[in-house]
This record gives sequence, structure tokens and C-alpha cells, in this order.
Amino acid sequence: MKKKQKTRGNWLYGITTIAYILLFIWVFTLNGTKGLVIWDPGYAMYFYVLGFIGFIPIILWLLDRFIFKKRGLRVVSKLLSFVLLLIPIGIVTFIFISTRIQAVDLPPLVFINDSSQAERYSLTYWTKEKQSDTLEVIMHKSEAIEAVQLTDDEKGHKHVFTFGQSDVASYDITTQQGSYTLAVSQDTHIKRFAIASDSHIGTAKSSLDNTKTIMQSIYNQPYDCFFLLGDIVEYGFSFQQWVQAVQILASQEKVVPLKPLIGNHDILFRGGQLFESLMGEDYFRVDFDTIHFIGLNLPWGIEDFSAKQKQWLETELKSIPKEDWTIVLTHAFLYASGYHYRGVLWADNTKAIDELVPMFESHDVDMVFSGHNHQMEHLSTNGIDYFIAGAFGCHLDPERDYTSAGSMWYNNETHGYLDLTMSATTATVTFLDVDNQPLYTHVVEK
Ligand SMILES: [Fe+2]
Repeated sequence: MKKKQKTRGNWLYGITTIAYILLFIWVFTLNGTKGLVIWDPGYAMYFYVLGFIGFIPIILWLLDRFIFKKRGLRVVSKLLSFVLLLIPIGIVTFIFISTRIQAVDLPPLVFINDSSQAERYSLTYWTKEKQSDTLEVIMHKSEAIEAVQLTDDEKGHKHVFTFGQSDVASYDITTQQGSYTLAVSQDTHIKRFAIASDSHIGTAKSSLDNTKTIMQSIYNQPYDCFFLLGDIVEYGFSFQQWVQAVQILASQEKVVPLKPLIGNHDILFRGGQLFESLMGEDYFRVDFDTIHFIGLNLPWGIEDFSAKQKQWLETELKSIPKEDWTIVLTHAFLYASGYHYRGVLWADNTKAIDELVPMFESHDVDMVFSGHNHQMEHLSTNGIDYFIAGAFGCHLDPERDYTSAGSMWYNNETHGYLDLTMSATTATVTFLDVDNQPLYTHVVEK
């Protein structure tokens, strides 16, 4: 009888230990966690502390079993174990609640679709109430005007309308939220793209005003597409930050189609699910005649680069004719100058370079655009030009203490974005500041 009393409630130690083990297994199955621990020793420390706390129930059980003689101590020990059990439960609950899509009204974003999809554009927005909506699109063609009415199949919070034909010069789009004009360049010889990365919306360290000003400049020009290379928000697991981001990126009277990539901040702790719902697929190929963009899911480096994505990349690269332009877009840089952050060098990513660059060089990739480091830079290595455009409003990086061998130009002093103007034979890359003033131009000949 006495022995039974002594062991009563011992299961609590076991349950608490198992809860910590399951928490660790679950967190490390989430995309982006492995990269976080490798690249940010500050955050890695939280995991060590959590791991240590996870051992405490075992220590308490040993004390209960062999040391504590008094009933009172054993009760306190079990109570403590119960309190520790609340931590993993609390963490998982917080992540699920924080990444839950809530019913809100979100303004429209126009995305350019993957080349595998039938129609070129998708206009997407969310409504607080479940409803069936309509969208009117007037297509101005070279010789005619055609109007189409699109309706949601069923009532929902998310509304997606796809449209687009090859000979359209511009679209007038009318939604219940407002009217938008999307002009499509009819010049088959010249294509223009805007590229920027790292807005980090949601932290006071970022300049939202600068992000908004750059966004305005982009929407005021007839870009064929705006490629946003990730770290759109500070914490991808915060639905509230995504709401703020969508409001800032939202379509204005003049619309430029958007194509976003996922960054290390976006992907964290189920942020990938929010990205997919709000921004679309996490890797893609988009073609503009003989110009081919391949966007990769490379948030930290090579850590989340799956075998499936690698296979897909090889297939896509092989299918592009040698004489065409091949442009790769990533969040994480391959070559970059940078600095030491808590002992880790945030510059030339040798693992990613070893994995990807031989493939790029053998398939004649022309240019690679990335973000991740909060700076603007141009590098040239073995015939490929690398550009870092990580200055879309985020806090800027400290002065580099490591200069990559191929670095041609570097700036960590101003926010800005990048203009890529292309013909069949020439690509002109111009870094611009917040006031739309050119900072640096480089021409790549095919
Ligand atoms: Fe970033």
C-alpha cells in the first residue's frame, strides 16, 4: 500500500518527457527550422535551453524515486513536472493559433502564373464573410475590346480569378474592392522586370515608408512582373504580419503582376503554409518568350532544397534552349560579400555553391538574383552574374568584413530595388534607390 502511494502519479514524468521529445521531432520536421539552428546561433540557444528543460522531468523522477523521502517533496516534484508539461503544449498551441488563417478582408493581389498554368494572371483576395463574388475584366486587344465576367464557383473566404490572353494590351479589372488597370507590354523585343527582396514587414527595425515608396515606383512603371525574393514578413508564423504585408503589396490603380519567393523569415514555424495560401507556390518557372525565370525555394541555403525540387530544376534547366536567357531567382544568396554574425559567416554559401553552381554553369544560366543579406551587390564568377537585392525596407546589414572574390559593386547604405530591362541580346541591370535614382548599372550581353 505504501509503495503504491509512492509511485502514484509517476506517469506524469514520462508524459512530460515524451511531450518534449515530440515537440523537438515536430519542430524539426517543419521547413526552415534546421536552417535557423545552423545559421543563427542566437536562436539555436533557445533550442538548447528547451532541450535542457526537457531533461528536468527525468531528473525529478530520479529524485522522487531514490532521494525524496517526504511525501510533500514528491508532490512538489510532480507539480513541477506538470508545469513543465504546459510549455510544449503552449508552444504548439501558439504556433497553430498564430498560423491560422482568420476571416479578414484582404485587398487584391495580381500574380503572374507559372508557365504550366493555362491563363497568365490570377487576381486573389480574401473576404471576411463567405461569399460568391464576381469580377469583370475588360481586355483591350490590338483591334478589339472584349469583356469577360468571372464568378466564384462556390462561396468562400478566398477568391481567385484567373484570366489572360496572349494578344491583350491591357486589362481593366473591376472587383468589389475597386478598379485596377494592368498594362501588358506589347513590345516583343523589350521586357522589363522589377526585383527586390527583404521587406521584413512586422518589425520596427524595418522602414515601411521606404517599402511603400518603392512599391509605388514599381506600380507606376509598366513592368512585366515584380519578383519579390522573400523575407516579406519578419515572422512567417504571424498571420497578422502577413495581413499587413498584403495590404502594403496590394494592387493600386495601376497593377504590376507579382511573383513572390519564400525567405527564411517567411517559412518559420508553419509560415510556409501561410505563404502558400496567400502568395502561391514556393518554386516556379515563368517564361517571357525567350526569357526564362526559375524561382527556387532556398530560404536559408541548401537545407530545405528537396530531392524533388532538384529533379524539377534539372528538368527545367535542360529544357531551355542554349541561346535563350536563363535567370535563376532565390532568396538565399550563393555568392555574396557579408559579415560574421555570432561567429557564423553570412557570405559565400559554399554548400549551396557546391550543390547548385555546377548545374547553373553547365546549363548556361546567365544571371542569378537573390536577397537574404541586407545589401545590394553585383558579383561575377565564371561567366555568371550574381545580384543581391536585399534592401526592400529591412534594416541594412553592417559593413562587410568579408569580400567575395567576384564582387564588382557593393552598397549597404540605402534601401532600393533593381530594374532588369531585357532584349534578346542585352540585359541591363540597374540598382535604384528609394527616390528611384540609379545607383549602379551593369550590362550583360548574350
Ligand atoms: Fe532578410
